[in-house]
Amino acid sequence: MDLDQFRALRTPEGSAALAAATRVAGGDPLTAAAALRSAGLPAGLAAAALTQAELRRKAAGKFGPAAAGMFLTRPGLEQATRREVADRRAERLRAAGVRTLADLGCGLGADALAAARAGIRVYGVEADPLTAALAAANAEAAGLADLFTVECGDATAFDVTRVDAAFCDPARRKAGTGRRVFDPNAYSPPWDFVTDLAERVPCTVVKVAPGLDHALIPPGAEAEWVSVRGDLVEAALWCGRLAEVPRRATVCRDGDRPSGGQPTTGQPTAGQFTGVQLTGSGAAEAAVGPVRRYLYDPDPAVVRAHLVAELATELDARIADPSIAYLYADTPVRTPFARCLEITDVLPFSLKRLRALLRERRVGRVEILKRGSALEPEQLRRDLRLSGDQPASLVLTRVAGAPTVLLGRPVG
Ligand SMILES: C[S@@+](CC[C@H](N)C(=O)[O-])C[C@H]1O[C@@H](n2cnc3c(N)ncnc32)[C@H](O)[C@@H]1O
Repeated sequence: MDLDQFRALRTPEGSAALAAATRVAGGDPLTAAAALRSAGLPAGLAAAALTQAELRRKAAGKFGPAAAGMFLTRPGLEQATRREVADRRAERLRAAGVRTLADLGCGLGADALAAARAGIRVYGVEADPLTAALAAANAEAAGLADLFTVECGDATAFDVTRVDAAFCDPARRKAGTGRRVFDPNAYSPPWDFVTDLAERVPCTVVKVAPGLDHALIPPGAEAEWVSVRGDLVEAALWCGRLAEVPRRATVCRDGDRPSGGQPTTGQPTAGQFTGVQLTGSGAAEAAVGPVRRYLYDPDPAVVRAHLVAELATELDARIADPSIAYLYADTPVRTPFARCLEITDVLPFSLKRLRALLRERRVGRVEILKRGSALEPEQLRRDLRLSGDQPASLVLTRVAGAPTVLLGRPVG
């Protein structure tokens, strides 16, 4: 979509085209396009409306029902923060006393809208003219145009003395090709702007890729990793007076609500910012011991935040290999920070022995977990030639350096 097509969609004819496209979207695109053209819509408008309707359907997973009124681009949607994560961040900013916020590179406005919903006045800056126009339209559609305004320009030139806090979610894609970039120096705005921002604005939050190298975390900043339904979705750096702990893992699952959850294990949550969180130094090392009856597979946010030792303390557990983040304990404890398996068998890895054991147990279906093993789970599944009727969990790992396979079943 270009700016002209966007403007056409904002006319009464464009709104009617969008409504018609919404009715036919989701099926075969050729049939949908033909239906719109046979209803008398010009081809260009029909195509733009259909693309928008398809993007809105896709965006529902990230933004919920609000997606139905949003204006989107594919790259903007891919880079946008999902609503539950943006709302949590906004709530934490509000609780920290932030009243005005600069969103430096606001994209389609997912984070800015969340902050505005929390009552924060947001000044969005966006370099791409179409994206800036869409963000402004999204503010209007959400009824938040008085709290979230957008200017099209270079975020690095924004006067940050005007605001209490700055948020930056740098683009991690190469302009033009849309390819992901992994080197923070290739982010836009660039990494040195981001780190300098943290020094210039007393309250700064930076959203970064979850694979961020810990060595890049600015001294004194809090680094938070966030997972949603078991998927690691982002990391954020909380700088200046927003930093509360060195490391935090935030685990969002169905049922957690921005104003609901309480921590089940781990340190208390920060202020009003609720959710299931584990915090710590990120520098502690878990004690090493033998495999025990229960294995815990920590959530990826806990692992990336280097909080496995803190979780081990909560669970009274040990690791069985200094470099592998599986925890072992004598008792099962309910925790949102890890999956728990009951281990029934431990054997040194040998395909022949494993096959014999699974045959003896009449195992026909396996889920395969692995940490510290080079084995390819799907290849192993084929090689096992399972024929029984029982389910089992297989864990491919190392114990005290030795390739080991554990057989077990999920707890709870
Ligand atoms: C990752 S996206 C932001 C997504 C946003 N947080 C959301 O959840 O919707 C980054 C945005 O920064 C914009 N951008 C990159 N460099 C910029 C700059 N120097 N000034 C302003 N915007 C910039 C890009 O065009 C892109 O839309």
